Amino acid sequence: MYFIANWKMFGSIKSVNSLNKVISYSKTNKLKAKIIYCPPYTLIKSFVDKTKNSNIKIGAQDCHTQIKYGPFTGAISSKMIKDLGGKFVIIGHSETRAENDNKKINLKIKSALDEKLNVILCIGEKLIDKRKNKTKYVLKKQLLEGLKNLKNLNKKVIIAYEPVWSIGTGIIPSENDLKKNIRFIRNILKISKKFTKSKILYGGSVNPKNIKNLMRIDNIDGFLIGGSSTNEKIFIDIMKKSIN
Ligand code: PGA
Repeated sequence: MYFIANWKMFGSIKSVNSLNKVISYSKTNKLKAKIIYCPPYTLIKSFVDKTKNSNIKIGAQDCHTQIKYGPFTGAISSKMIKDLGGKFVIIGHSETRAENDNKKINLKIKSALDEKLNVILCIGEKLIDKRKNKTKYVLKKQLLEGLKNLKNLNKKVIIAYEPVWSIGTGIIPSENDLKKNIRFIRNILKISKKFTKSKILYGGSVNPKNIKNLMRIDNIDGFLIGGSSTNEKIFIDIMKKSIN
């Protein structure tokens, strides 16, 4: 089971200390959870240093399409992430999709894979898509265009299904819808004939109250967790409740 913490624009240098309990938990946990932290760029290096004697891995929240240095103010490349010790990168999160079409997302994934980073590709429908019954159309398009012409690196690409209307709202999809949509994603990956073994995660308002219900959905390989991951007690509580 993957538990990926997406810190978004949260955290200061002092936040490194908030990893202490999670590091201890990661050494004892029975779940054999794969814990990955994706802090803001400013904290990647200190998170990498802090977790170096543990199994916790660190990632970034986005990257540029180009690996080489270039005149792109404010941008960070996958090579720079790797240079800091990052092993993962989130690409296509809905909070970044306004500046990223599927083509750009595809190029970003390519650059990350070329640098041997693991990719967490986020896909998900907006509320309006759901209302118009276009969820499947959106998921298929985001997947097939996002993964177009890439090398077959099954284990390097994780898919995170995050319905946009679930992010930060406290609302999660029904068990039935979630099961159906994860199955649909799995089938699309089969059609692509690549990425058939990719892990599929769920993200959107995961918290200690709903984790047990989410764990009942047997085709989910883990969770991408925003708000609830910035508090170590809550994050550990989620992981603990996922086993009991
Ligand atoms: P949330 O965010 O858990 O705060 O809803 C999840 C995400 O955006 O990845």
